[in-house]
Amino acid sequence: MSQFATLTDGACAVLGTADARAKALLSRRVAQAWRDKVLPEIGSTAPPDRPSRPERPELLAPGRMPRRRSAGSLATRVALLHALAHIELNAVDLAWDLIARFASPDLPRSFFDDWVTVADEEGLHFLLVSDRLADLGAGYGDLPAHDGLWEAAVDTAHDLMARLAIVPLVLEARGLDVTPAMIRRFEGAGDLESAAILRIILRDEIGHVAVGMRWFDWMCQRNRNDSLPMWRKLVKTHFRGALKPPFNHEARQTAGFAPDFHEGLCNAADARL
Ligand SMILES: [Fe+2]
Ligand SMILES: [Fe+2]
Repeated sequence: MSQFATLTDGACAVLGTADARAKALLSRRVAQAWRDKVLPEIGSTAPPDRPSRPERPELLAPGRMPRRRSAGSLATRVALLHALAHIELNAVDLAWDLIARFASPDLPRSFFDDWVTVADEEGLHFLLVSDRLADLGAGYGDLPAHDGLWEAAVDTAHDLMARLAIVPLVLEARGLDVTPAMIRRFEGAGDLESAAILRIILRDEIGHVAVGMRWFDWMCQRNRNDSLPMWRKLVKTHFRGALKPPFNHEARQTAGFAPDFHEGLCNAADARL
């Protein structure tokens, strides 16, 4: 038996866990319980506005983040991994927030299966990166981290289509674009262990973007919207950052992005200038 009655109870328990490692481990445990069908129902427990987080790292506004030191040094590698651990912890909360916030009997069970898999893998990613930080004599919480990653969740809390358009299809897709260069940086520094972890993350993240695309398309079909113009409109309304190339075309294509979506990114970025 699971300690939770429903999937959304489990989701809210993850969101309400402050300790980073405990959050990631619980994410994996709730996912396992869902797969094992010991959580028979989805439920309707509402998520908190903001997930609980540990006291450290200190969260800084993006402009106040310290500059990185020389490429390849231990301090730089630790800073990169620390930033990545922070992104993965946010990703754990984003996946469970999506499940709890938008749970509805209108959505098929496969929707929840997909997002539970994403939540499980984000927990794994956090644990892999934080274990690697420990190998390097550091840990999550040692450095300041970027405050503002939760902004996208707040901006899209009212609308599942907007959430899908921004979180997997802009932010996680951006991860596909930047990760190969990070892998090369670690390899260039001779840190093959960190590079191997990043390869696992890149492979899984292609799957997360694919899940985002699948359900965005599903919602568009259900509402009789064309995916591409709808996505462009939602990006213009809900995304404030810059969207710019280079894009990882191969990874994006594997994730199911039609080439028009790359065009869409360029146009959305132009529209902002
Ligand atoms: Fe991840
Ligand atoms: Fe992800």
